[in-house]
This record gives sequence, structure tokens and C-alpha cells, in this order.
Amino acid sequence: MGLNPSPGTTLPDYDRKTELTAFDETKTGVKGLVDAGITKVPRIFHLPTPENLTNSDQTSPSKPSLPTIDLEGINEDSIKRKEVIKEVKDALESWGFFQMVNHGIPVSLLEDAKKCIIEFFEQDTNVKKQWYTRDLSGAKVIYNSNFDLYSAPVTNWRDSFYCTMAPNPPQPHELPLPCRDVWPEYSKQVMKLGCSVFELISEALGLNPKHLFDMGCTEGLALLGHYYPSCPQPELTIGTADHADNDFITILLQDDIGGLQVFYQNQWTDVPPIPGALVVNAGDLLQLITNDKLVSAEHRVLVNKMCSRVSLASFFSTGLMPTTKVFKPIKELLSENNPAKYRGTTVKDYVEYFNGKGLDGTSALLHFKI
Ligand code: OGA
Ligand code: NI
Repeated sequence: MGLNPSPGTTLPDYDRKTELTAFDETKTGVKGLVDAGITKVPRIFHLPTPENLTNSDQTSPSKPSLPTIDLEGINEDSIKRKEVIKEVKDALESWGFFQMVNHGIPVSLLEDAKKCIIEFFEQDTNVKKQWYTRDLSGAKVIYNSNFDLYSAPVTNWRDSFYCTMAPNPPQPHELPLPCRDVWPEYSKQVMKLGCSVFELISEALGLNPKHLFDMGCTEGLALLGHYYPSCPQPELTIGTADHADNDFITILLQDDIGGLQVFYQNQWTDVPPIPGALVVNAGDLLQLITNDKLVSAEHRVLVNKMCSRVSLASFFSTGLMPTTKVFKPIKELLSENNPAKYRGTTVKDYVEYFNGKGLDGTSALLHFKI
């Protein structure tokens, strides 16, 4: 979606690779640049093509706003549950996104989870540097800036750290000190909540509540903490370039700064911060197994001139872990008039293709179309 140089666009007239390497070797990410007091965004972060980076005009009466679903009582009140299932169905069929409140995870745990991301990124630089790596095969915890630094057409104004929490959780000592206590508890609760959300989605599809669980959609969970430093020239760069997620679903915790947007009906719409809420979005693998019934929407994050922002994304996926299970369109959803649109794939093959392809404006799903 427009982040790649279009055919005919000239290549950068500077040695981008050298500048990327120099940035990478600092091991202090974008935060390191801001801490050093830069007042101009270095050119490696400049968007190659101008984009409309404004916040969407949420005051316009005709502008649709992202649904917020209240989960209160869904396990006690069958009428309420039916209503919620309908809301989940409508939201994931159109937006691919919704926010949820009264989801059962205590606000204090959400606050602790955000706090530990800030503490991780704001800790002593020399301690933080020890976690910096691009080796996806060895380390359990991966901290760096831009996982696709050397391949992506656009470098994001963001640092991230990542850890797989299921099916093989890290030992506490393998986690950075700031999140050693909180991440295991947070991921336990997100896993429980995720299982409930997959039940609602299964029912929204007209399936047995345990269908997606039994298929293995909740086998893997990875946490990804993002830090978006304040940016001296926010109009020149982006926090996260537009993308769809390559998992089944993502449950996202954001702070109160804002900047996350979803692409809906041909325009960018804000995902406004709501205290205590969590954002849910469908990933490509959910779109694949539902044969396009549910959509994995494009989203992006704008940066902010005044404040830094943190978020914590929980990805339901086994990621690059070797697995043999093949995911394909659910046969109960298919019919003569609605034949399978996708061939089967393992999660690993999907993620590898997605990562290798880069964000070139097309969906990785196309590669798996029959
Ligand atoms: C992601 C993502 C949004 C955010 O991690 O895939 O879209 O608000 N994050 O950080
Ligand atoms: Ni995302």
C-alpha cells in the first residue's frame, strides 16, 4: 500500500546500506538517536513516497468508528453472549479489528505490562545492548530496531523486543529483568483471554466453540513490545509502516498516546486509546482458514512529535517454530458455491514467505491462493 518506490522511482542517492549498518551497530536503536539529541530525522527513516500521515478526522459525522465490544457477562448470560458473538462477527467481517472492554484482565496488570516495556527501553544502555540481536535462530529474547532493517523499503521510527511465550516459555532468568515478573503472568492471562476470543470467533463462524482451539490456533503465543520515541519531524517518517499481521489473531495493548490506524473503506481510521481496553485484530492466517470470511486488515502507526509511545502486541502464532500441522480453509465453511480459495500451509512456511516478501504493498495471502 504505497510504501514502496513505484516502478521508475530512483534509488536513494546515498549509500543506504552503509548508513543502515552504522545505525544497526550503535545497538541503541531509534531511542539512541533521540537521546543523542538529533533534531532532524536521518534520511534512512524518510518515507520514499509522500503519504497522508494526518490523524483521521474523527469528528466528521459520516466517519465510521471502530467498534468497541463489552465482554461483561458473556459466560453467564446467554443472551448477552449471542449479542457479543454477532458484534464480533460484524467487526471481523468488515474491519478485521475491534476493541474490547471488560475482558477480565485487571487494569493493574495492563499498567504493569506497559511499565515494564518503558523500563526495558529506558534501562541502562549497556545492559540493554546485551539483548540486541538479529539472530532469529538462537536467542529467545530479541531486541533490535526494525526486524527487516536491511530488506524493507522504509525504516520505521521504532524499537522492539520480542519473546516467544508458548508453547516453549522462557525460563525467568532468560527474560530481561524489567519484565521477568510481569510477562509470564501477562501472557498467561492473554492466553486465557485469547482462548475465550477464539471461542467467540468459532461461534461467530457457526462452528463449535472449541473449533479454532482444536485446530491449534492457540498453540503459540509471542509477545512483542514496541517503543516509538518522540520524533522531531513526524511528517517525514512512520512508526510502523502499513502491514497486516501474519498470525491468527493479535491482542494489542496500547498506551494513551494514539497513532495506531486501521485501513477501512479506503481510508485510515484511528484506533483511539481507551483506558483499560485491548485491541483485537485478525491476522492473515485467520483470513486463510476462514476462506476470506474474516479479514486481516492493514494497519499502521504514526509517530508523535511530543511524546514517546509504547505498545505490547500478543501474537497468536507459533511463528518460525518448526511445525508440521497444515492450516487450510475450514471445510465446514466451504460449499459448492464457496470453494477453497487457499492451499494449505504450515505456520512456519507462511511466516517465512511473509518475512521474505517484505512490505511491497501486496498481501502475502495472494501467494497461497489456489
Ligand atoms: C504490530 C502492530 C501496533 C502498535 O506489532 O504488528 O501492528 O500499536 N503494532 O504498536
Ligand atoms: Ni500489526
